[in-house]
Amino acid sequence: MTVLVTGGAGYIGGHMVLALLDAGEKAVVLDDLSTGFRSAVRPPAKLIVGDFGDMALVETILREHEIDAIAHFAAKIVVPESVADPLRYYLNNTAKSRNLLECAVRHKIKHFIFSSTAAVYGEPEVNPVSETAALAPINPYGRSKLMTEWMLQDASHAHGLDYVILRYFNVAGADPKGRLGQSTPQATHLIKIAVQAALGFRPGLDVFGADYPTRDGTCIRDYIQVTDLVAAHLMALDYLRKGGESLICNCGYGTGFSVFEVIDVVKQVSGVDFNVRISGRRAGDPASLVAGAERIKSVLGWAPKYDDLPAIAGQALDWERHLHNKSKAESVLVRNSAAR
Ligand code: UFG
Repeated sequence: MTVLVTGGAGYIGGHMVLALLDAGEKAVVLDDLSTGFRSAVRPPAKLIVGDFGDMALVETILREHEIDAIAHFAAKIVVPESVADPLRYYLNNTAKSRNLLECAVRHKIKHFIFSSTAAVYGEPEVNPVSETAALAPINPYGRSKLMTEWMLQDASHAHGLDYVILRYFNVAGADPKGRLGQSTPQATHLIKIAVQAALGFRPGLDVFGADYPTRDGTCIRDYIQVTDLVAAHLMALDYLRKGGESLICNCGYGTGFSVFEVIDVVKQVSGVDFNVRISGRRAGDPASLVAGAERIKSVLGWAPKYDDLPAIAGQALDWERHLHNKSKAESVLVRNSAAR
């Protein structure tokens, strides 16, 4: 059987495709390449460039390939952007997901793995936050994903589509074999920004708020390594294929790091004391978000391998250097061919 991976040319989806291929699975990727890269999808995975909300296209893919499961990664994921442009998030993350679900139901797809987010909890009363905590997102990104969780649960109830909803905390790092990493040019995520500052690709880093009610005044997050995260998806797939009941799991390590702590780790690992400036709070940021990770361990048997922030920062640094060297080599090629 084949897995349809929406957003499989992106950062997390791309790692999922690598993991599927490593496990001997077949994968078809549907990605519009708005933030993904053709090069992230390696053969024998097949890339179809298009919109996952395009029902005619999705139906053709489901007809032409023996797909038993959909892993739905494609989404807009930047919290402050969702505050500035909410309707774009409700179109991309909610309305288009509805179309995808309708196609899945029509074609009697058995299993659906959905990339949800810790942002569905909003500002939790207790950290680590468990899956049963109140759902009260504080930004359109979190609401756009929560609505899709609800649609999926309703569709499952009515039509028997099994699901695992995975609520990601802060995903970071890169493939330990160096095949893939976070390549998005307009990075907004903390670890990526910090390694870019350490490598001198940006003048420094702004800390968005040092007046939060946390141990050092900066926001606390749970940073999960991307290979560990995609391993959870494979386990979820296996669980559903063996007849497991639909499930919602947090994906995080259960340990929180503040923005200052992350910066210190990146400074130590890189050996560079880059510039850091305290600026105002960013819209939509909760003070603390740390995963309660018991369920994913007990039900799926997930056992993380890369729960080590310095190692995650090291992977991110290596990948950023690789991207830089690649773009330098490409610009030399362009100059040489222009000179000929
Ligand atoms: N931050 C800075 N400076 C920067 C970038 C980030 O201070 O240059 C701070 C943010 O304000 C926040 C923390 O670092 O306090 C983490 O910010 P990220 O942008 O790295 O990540 P978010 O926590 O905003 O969001 C991420 C994902 C979401 C997911 C969420 C769950 O993008 O998809 O984690 O915790 F929902």
